[in-house]
Amino acid sequence: MTSSSNCFFLVSMVVSLLFFLEFTSTMASTKDIYAICNDPSAINKTFCLQTLTAYPPAVSAKNMDELVRVTLDLGTTLAKERAGFVAGLKKEATFKKYFETCNDSYSQVVNYFESARSQIDEKPHGKDGASLIILESSDYTQLVKDTIGKNTDKTSKRLMEMTLVMEDFIHIAFAAINYY
Ligand SMILES: *[C@@H]1O[C@H](CO)[C@@H](O)[C@H](O)[C@H]1NC(C)=O
Ligand SMILES: *[C@@H]1O[C@H](CO)[C@@H](O)[C@H](O)[C@H]1NC(C)=O
Repeated sequence: MTSSSNCFFLVSMVVSLLFFLEFTSTMASTKDIYAICNDPSAINKTFCLQTLTAYPPAVSAKNMDELVRVTLDLGTTLAKERAGFVAGLKKEATFKKYFETCNDSYSQVVNYFESARSQIDEKPHGKDGASLIILESSDYTQLVKDTIGKNTDKTSKRLMEMTLVMEDFIHIAFAAINYY
């Protein structure tokens, strides 16, 4: 071989290796998403797969630890969206009775997700702490359900739907922490 074909060979090897690494790291994340979603505590596997595969940071997570962290971040984002929705209801007359409970509840859910996320890196019991915190957050989604679940107005129904999704996501987060 001439030195230029040697060089070409070397460059193609490096390029293939990079593609291979890229490919395997993508595969690792898909495998990890399946591991979490197949866990019985994730409860709704279909919802879990749909949610995590639609979230780019989860799909591009390099390993399981990163996937767990971004899953908790997604929980914070979902909780903040709901807190924002509730904040927008402050002036709605029909919602007045429910506002304070729902507003407090969702700010608690945001806090719980943020603190689970910061607990997780703490050794040696951060993982247990994070699991407990995520479990406790479901007391607050339950409180929202108890507060507005029987209402028939459009706003309550919308918040109820959002709360059921939040609750499903809490199961995913709980399952994910087991794999950290
Ligand atoms: C599970 O999630 C899917 C997708 O969100 C939904 O269509 C289905 O109704 C859910 N199943 C249960 C039992 O909640
Ligand atoms: C909603 O709850 C948070 C936390 O409890 C509080 O800081 C905020 O002032 C409340 N929002 C409104 C509009 O009352």
